[in-house]
Amino acid sequence: MTAAGTYSIDSLREKARRRIPRFAFDFLDGGAGTEAGLHRNRAAFENLRLLPRAMVDVEARSLATEFLGRRWSAPFGVAPIGMGNLIWPGADELVAAAARDADIPYILSTAGTTALERIAAIAPEHAWFQLYVGKSQAIVDDLLERVARAGFQVLVVTVDVPAPGRRLRDQHNGLSLPLKPSAMWGIELAAHPAWSFATLRKGAPRFANLEPYAARNASASSLATLMAEQSSGRLDLDLIRAIRARWKGRMILKGILSPDDAARSRDIGADAVIVSNHGGRQLSGALATLEALPAIRRKVGPDFPLILDGGIRAGEDIAKAFAAGANFTLVGRAVMYGVAAMPGGAGHAINLLKSELSQACAQLGVVSPAEIDERFVFAP
Ligand SMILES: Cc1cc2nc3c(=O)[nH]c(=O)nc-3n(C[C@H](O)[C@H](O)[C@H](O)COP(=O)(O)O)c2cc1C
Repeated sequence: MTAAGTYSIDSLREKARRRIPRFAFDFLDGGAGTEAGLHRNRAAFENLRLLPRAMVDVEARSLATEFLGRRWSAPFGVAPIGMGNLIWPGADELVAAAARDADIPYILSTAGTTALERIAAIAPEHAWFQLYVGKSQAIVDDLLERVARAGFQVLVVTVDVPAPGRRLRDQHNGLSLPLKPSAMWGIELAAHPAWSFATLRKGAPRFANLEPYAARNASASSLATLMAEQSSGRLDLDLIRAIRARWKGRMILKGILSPDDAARSRDIGADAVIVSNHGGRQLSGALATLEALPAIRRKVGPDFPLILDGGIRAGEDIAKAFAAGANFTLVGRAVMYGVAAMPGGAGHAINLLKSELSQACAQLGVVSPAEIDERFVFAP
């Protein structure tokens, strides 16, 4: 039996909503503009109908999945989440450790609030690094060197932030960086003492990966300015090619929606792409990732590795992503709702997704998610 309020990702979301201040919850939960893109990701999952097979022996099921030259315990990893420690103090470390213990990948963001060297020490075999290509090439070069030196083997280059997303909830809440608590925040902090005390103990979240590039004893404000410069419109194919030539490990491009872009990524030498709309946080009019996937699969053929993220809130959604053409998936908010909901919440969310996916495999009549393909999509 699962404790009350923790039996689904949606129930963890509700618990998180009550346990952390509104400005922190909205930062995690919200999307860009009208949030149509955020809702569209969910609607696509809800609208896809699966066609199960019966009379198959599914007793010996396994979620173990080969992906990018390694075996993982399940076909999903944790997506990069900037400002993790705003959502729950110490979140980056908690999630990296939970992913390591669950034997799934964890992706640290350039905008993470824990130094990449520290995450590499916590999860040396499981941590991947997500790069934002900012205005300064010197910072990109140095980050790449540090990431390689720290032992990361997989680099994820995010390509869908040519400009910051318009997050209206954050604007409404006065969420700016560095944090400048307003009068409204006083009530929120008092109403959520566990978060407030934990933040006092850990210190306000900082862009720890950029600290070496700010002046010594950098104020939070100069770090925030530096972070703002980490999204830039200059990222083009030539720059991606240059990163490819330089980075010796595996390289994945994150934020692909167009079949042509997916094919170009493959031709440039990317080892995989992440079909993603940044969780509905960039272009609110963008199509849902689950809608984008089949055409991308057709374009790149059966063998090129495709990862999907955006809107996964249950194990069954991962089965649907496979049915639409994915080889692997990422979850962002689902795990962060867990962290914000309760102690041990990251591991709990991961286990929940695993057990739901195993049940979905049984219902579909497969012993492994890798067996799920377009034959399991109901087409009237
Ligand atoms: C609070 C938050 C912060 C994020 N920060 C980053 C980031 O720093 N870098 C990045 O590539 N994607 C970032 N994303 C996007 C996620 O990596 C991922 O694409 C998205 O969350 C997937 O959708 P889901 O949350 O519905 O699973 C962020 C998403 C959220 C919700």
